[in-house]
Amino acid sequence: PPCLSPSLSLSLPVSPSSPSCLTTSLHVSPLRLSLDKLRDVSSRLHKGLVQGLGKHSHHRAAVKMLPTFVRATPDGTEKGDFLALDLGGTNFRVLHVRVLQAEQKVVKMDSQICVVPKDMMTGATQQLFDHIASCLGDFIASQELKGQTLPLGFTFSFPCEQKEIDKSILIRWTKGFNCPGVEGRDVVTLLRDAVRRRGDYDIGSVAMVNDTVGTMMSCGYKDQSCEIGMIIGTGTNACYMEEMKNVKRVEGEDGRMCINTEWGGFGDDGSLRDIQTEFDQMVDKTSINPGVHIFEKMISGMYLGEIVRLLLLRLSEEKLLFKGQKSEVLQTPEIFQTKFISEIEEEDTGLDNARRILTQLDLQWDEADVRVVRLVCDTVSSRSARLCAAALATIANKMRLNRGLDRLQTTVGVDGTVYRKHPNFSEELQLTVRLLAPECSITFLVSEDGSGKGAAMVTAVAQRLCVLFPCLHFLIKSYMSDLKNE
Ligand code: GLC
Repeated sequence: PPCLSPSLSLSLPVSPSSPSCLTTSLHVSPLRLSLDKLRDVSSRLHKGLVQGLGKHSHHRAAVKMLPTFVRATPDGTEKGDFLALDLGGTNFRVLHVRVLQAEQKVVKMDSQICVVPKDMMTGATQQLFDHIASCLGDFIASQELKGQTLPLGFTFSFPCEQKEIDKSILIRWTKGFNCPGVEGRDVVTLLRDAVRRRGDYDIGSVAMVNDTVGTMMSCGYKDQSCEIGMIIGTGTNACYMEEMKNVKRVEGEDGRMCINTEWGGFGDDGSLRDIQTEFDQMVDKTSINPGVHIFEKMISGMYLGEIVRLLLLRLSEEKLLFKGQKSEVLQTPEIFQTKFISEIEEEDTGLDNARRILTQLDLQWDEADVRVVRLVCDTVSSRSARLCAAALATIANKMRLNRGLDRLQTTVGVDGTVYRKHPNFSEELQLTVRLLAPECSITFLVSEDGSGKGAAMVTAVAQRLCVLFPCLHFLIKSYMSDLKNE
């Protein structure tokens, strides 16, 4: 048998049964999850979803299952001009978006990226929101939009308890953000206060949007059967349309509501301990938020490079790589970027890319090292794709059973650098979902800028509903104040 894994055409230039190969295998194999294990993970997540939806259980649920108060996907009649803000990945963006009903198109008129310096991501609240307000102010001025108060969609990609479409309390920071004092506060108020402090422009009505919801909604304009949104980028998460009768925290039994699962938090109650490797534990321990978003830390772009680095470090410490040289390089956190994984796994150019990257990192490599590094990258990215597949299959299976269908046909809007840029990720994910949810036919639609255009779409749908049913705003408000058990 080939060394380590039959799925890899990366035959190592060492004998499969050589001691070094076997020891390498010892470190890598805990990351290889069988289909049975994935089924088991999926059934644990299913319990987590039910707990998160429960009236009395959601407070202690690791998977938060947050009601978004988005009750409808686009129907193609939406139109108008919108501003969109997008905070949650590496940069902050401001966009001017036009929804054209006649062409059923969402057009980005213009946009601007503002870098959020790393120290601002963990610094004072006021500094972060003043920065946001200043980028927005510059953009409004440059677009000559001063004086117009356009509705604004704010994609804020962190777990928030929505009280209304324009009231969103941050539950906790995730990914690289950790500004003290924002958790427990309404993000819209923080934004409005910052705009008021400037005093040179105003903003209209605000709709708060998670990036998963924006992604689902931006795809929903093209394909009205899009009822799931999924992100695999800096972080990972998904939302989907759940039956109101199952959303026990919100009054009402009819229709559906989009639920932001925050599946990144799966495992925060210890339920994934058996599949967490020593490398996952280390990534968690050294992160800015230990114990938070365990599932995300095994999957998303912010952490994959680190998992690979720690594995390579361990292999070199055990003299299985780089002739066992004590490499300070590999002891440097974040030196191995997640994008290297994609480059090294490219089918034709991957090995050359690996040689270039290892040289750039100043590592003394030989041909056997190059192949082991590629194998490590493949193992880590493939586990990520398979775990995502297990989570997506859980949602699809749940939607099918909810609706009492023999077969569910649905579309998932997807976004995120890991899904888009990695050469095999989407294929492996889709293949695994088919195995884990055989009664579901899922179409994958890569979203075109869900966080920007999608935010405008959520705002547009909210407006459409308000125009059609002027009383809806009050209805939503009363639903909110009736939030069961709040
Ligand atoms: C993190 C955030 C979540 C977001 C995801 C993808 O998991 O908590 O809200 O959707 O990243 O950006």
